[in-house]
Amino acid sequence: MDAEGFKVVCRGLADTEAVAAIVAGRARPGDAILLDGKLAAGKTHFVKALVAAFGSTDAVTSPTYAIAHFYATGIGRVLHIDAYRLSGPAEFRDLGFDGYFADVITVVEWGRIVAEEFADHLAIDLDFTDGADTVRTLAFAAVGERWAPEMATLQARIAERLA
Ligand SMILES: Nc1ncnc2c1ncn2[C@@H]1O[C@H](COP(=O)(O)OP(=O)(O)OP(=O)(O)O)[C@@H](O)[C@H]1O
Ligand SMILES: [Mg+2]
Repeated sequence: MDAEGFKVVCRGLADTEAVAAIVAGRARPGDAILLDGKLAAGKTHFVKALVAAFGSTDAVTSPTYAIAHFYATGIGRVLHIDAYRLSGPAEFRDLGFDGYFADVITVVEWGRIVAEEFADHLAIDLDFTDGADTVRTLAFAAVGERWAPEMATLQARIAERLA
């Protein structure tokens, strides 16, 4: 079941980074965060900011060709997946990443392609916003039970930061 979502407007990279840091503050091993949005909407930049906020110095790069990268962070490993080149959930399942899900924080670019593999996840859609090429609208939705109780806190902390 989808909990009620919310949208925020990021008026530059610094805003997007601040939002990612707030999400990082609520995340823990076992979580899944699925990112969507057109090419260059800012998915990889969001992951960079998230991983940095976990206290990692690992370089975050797009795993478009490798499909997945792992990063070491202060709260455990982050599994960064790019589903862009995957045909769907069946191909994803064949790659066998599910053995990691319980122990890592999984972040997926083009997450919608594999969303049915993550019963519980935070979905974040990044979209371009008319008028300025550094403005992005981020739409948050909780799918399943894990993130639903976090939504009010997330929304309040983000609103406070972006005010
Ligand atoms: N407010 C913003 N939030 C995020 N990125 C921004 C913002 N403003 C400008 N950008 C720029 O948009 C680009 C986003 O690139 P990024 O690689 O993160 O996109 P992506 O969604 O991962 O693309 P792809 O679909 O190719 O994986 C970067 O060049 C970044 O500097
Ligand atoms: Mg990317």
